[in-house]
Amino acid sequence: MKTKKTSIIAPSNIAFTKYWGKSNDELTLPNNDSISMCLDNVYTHTTVSFAKKYQSDSVEVTFYNQEKKVLHGKQLHRVMQQVDRIRKIAKTNLPVKIVSKNNFPQGTGIASSASSFAALTHALVSNLDLQISQKELTVLTRLAGSGSATRSIPDGFVRWYQSKDSDTSYAKSIENPKHWQLSDVVVVVSSEEKKYSSLDGHQLASTSPFYKARLETLPKRNQVVHDAIKNKNFTILGEELEKEALSLHVASMTSEPSIWYWSPATIAVFDEVKKIREQGIQAYFTTDAGPNVHIICEQENRTLINKHFSQLSYVETIFESNVGNGSREVEEHLF
Ligand code: DP6
Repeated sequence: MKTKKTSIIAPSNIAFTKYWGKSNDELTLPNNDSISMCLDNVYTHTTVSFAKKYQSDSVEVTFYNQEKKVLHGKQLHRVMQQVDRIRKIAKTNLPVKIVSKNNFPQGTGIASSASSFAALTHALVSNLDLQISQKELTVLTRLAGSGSATRSIPDGFVRWYQSKDSDTSYAKSIENPKHWQLSDVVVVVSSEEKKYSSLDGHQLASTSPFYKARLETLPKRNQVVHDAIKNKNFTILGEELEKEALSLHVASMTSEPSIWYWSPATIAVFDEVKKIREQGIQAYFTTDAGPNVHIICEQENRTLINKHFSQLSYVETIFESNVGNGSREVEEHLF
């Protein structure tokens, strides 16, 4: 009998309002709701297969611009924890073969673990024919420990709900990708692995005196961002998402110890975004746990913005994406 293989492509996503700090580490329960859009052009492609013939578990990954490698140590442990969680639900102990690749730099604030854990979880669940809803799939993805991965399952514009209860902290699409033609121009100023992970940031968040104030502003901000997406009001969305990114980084810079994700080039890009805005091009910046800048714009301005920023000496590369679908099954297998 032919061995069943399942392949999933899951996108990265960029958060307009961000997940920062948890109420429960083990269950990855966030302290606040977050809202993001899925990116159509930056993704992870993962193939999995459970079968006796593999004899032992194996995980092979090809990160962007790197050689293929067999995963080991901490990274393998995280993957295997998710495999074991799903094997337990499916009541199987079959060995698994996993092969994965992504098309953008790892660990640079472009949510690589979001797309990887979304692709992994979706592929494991589908290969074992677990009959679960999309809501349950987002919960299961969240449990892998990369919270933002939960927002890479549904399509388009997505909200992840905060809750003290695991089953009700899930992600759901607010609007599909066709609702609004937005783009993310990712300006890479450094493709080196970051010094501090998001994990460090979540754990230290509450040591900042500004963290409490940040959490207090978020219910209102999430409402404004949610409504701006529904009503397609780009100025309101842009202003909020910039303030939101700054609020996260103020909390991280003032945590103990301080975590600084930006480089001088990051700030130079911010200045440049403000400059082009003054010239009448609607564009707003946001950053995650890394130095690279996501410029959010309407699709009609995407090429112009790319051209402008690719001329700057401190810019390494640029990735462009429009709003995309969430995770989905594809025919092409990686082994
Ligand atoms: C700043 O714990 O989901 O990107 O596992 O490193 O992808 P990784 O991070 P995760 O934290 C994400 C933090 C953030 C904000 C966000 O995407 O909401």
